Amino acid sequence: MENRILHVDAGAGYDIVIEPGVLDDAGARIKAALPRAKRLFLVTDSHVSPLYGPRLVASLEKLSFEVHTHVIPAGETSKSAENLVALWEWMTAHGVTRTDAVVALGGGVVGDLAGFAASTVLRGVDTVQIPTTLLSQVDSSVGGKTAIDLPTGKNLAGTFCQPRLVLMDPDTLATLPESEFMSGMAEVVKYGCIWDADFFDFLAARPTRAALTADIGHILYTCCDIKRQVVNADERDTGLRMILNFGHTLGHAYELAGNYETWTHGQAVAAGMVTAAELGETLGLTEAGCADKIRAILTPLGLPTHIPCSLAHMEKAVGIDKKSAGDSVTVILLEKIGTVMPRKMPKEELLELLAGICGRDA
Ligand code: NAD
Ligand code: GLY
Repeated sequence: MENRILHVDAGAGYDIVIEPGVLDDAGARIKAALPRAKRLFLVTDSHVSPLYGPRLVASLEKLSFEVHTHVIPAGETSKSAENLVALWEWMTAHGVTRTDAVVALGGGVVGDLAGFAASTVLRGVDTVQIPTTLLSQVDSSVGGKTAIDLPTGKNLAGTFCQPRLVLMDPDTLATLPESEFMSGMAEVVKYGCIWDADFFDFLAARPTRAALTADIGHILYTCCDIKRQVVNADERDTGLRMILNFGHTLGHAYELAGNYETWTHGQAVAAGMVTAAELGETLGLTEAGCADKIRAILTPLGLPTHIPCSLAHMEKAVGIDKKSAGDSVTVILLEKIGTVMPRKMPKEELLELLAGICGRDA
């Protein structure tokens, strides 16, 4: 696989480097992007640390960086206020200065938490994202959203703060458990649905992990290219960026229905995309057959196309959706595969329609 580099204009502007083995070249890449940085604060998790920590640290120390490492327990519960404070205290205890940087090595949990800590300590130091899950490579490491979870909900506190560099080593995906790989695939399929019908067909022709892995460079590049165009146009999520939430309003309802334990985010988004397509078809706005096409691409990947969900959970998810304003909510519908159609509608109307589609589960 050849090396691929994309540039994001948002923030100070930064490169996304997609390159097998780039972990071993991280020191030189970071030195070039952040020539004034002396100390690097490496944040990773308990699964990723033993797998990739030593190689990364060796690459950083080769370039004479002073490296401090903090390992958080793997899992969503680590995206907490307690861990955020712990990171602030750890960095300041080790003399962080404004020209130093935080390096996030891991999935979206590490990236979101470390990014938030970096964007707020000393009112902001630079971040380098080194994503190691499919989801974090195609989505969370690019675009500058950082967050922690609160007892009142997921991702309820955070910042917009673009990283200064994103280093993506596709080889790290080899150790990813099957369920995590397929969870990331739901977001990959989403890009085909909302932006690129040819990419959707390309994915449909690769129904196994082995076939997808053989073309992983193209897949990562295509997804990051779409995301960077969306972020360049709407960094602060007030317009176009909302299309990245295709399948997510319903997905949140499914996550809630399973108490965030039964279904991974990707599984919930997979079923949410099918429901959103069904909704569009019911309204006569989405080309007939789209829901079936999405089902056909998700099923061989082992992703669910239907998740039982009560209307009460639907109501709660619609109520807390970040795309809701007053009594209305913007639902991301498809016109056809590859083209989206955001549609603002009264929450009551949306819930009535969903009652027709999902009421059988109530
Ligand atoms: P994650 O970070 O929890 O990683 C999933 C699991 O895989 C963890 O157990 C992790 O330790 C393990 N892991 C990571 N890399 C591995 C590797 N290479 N080999 C083996 N195991 C590995 O989950 P995720 O799916 O990467 O990210 C989910 C998080 O991302 C959520 O908190 C979500 O809110 C957030 N998110 C943020 C954005 C954004 O724009 N900031 C977008 C989407 C999702
Ligand atoms: N993951 C959605 C966004 O970055 O806006």
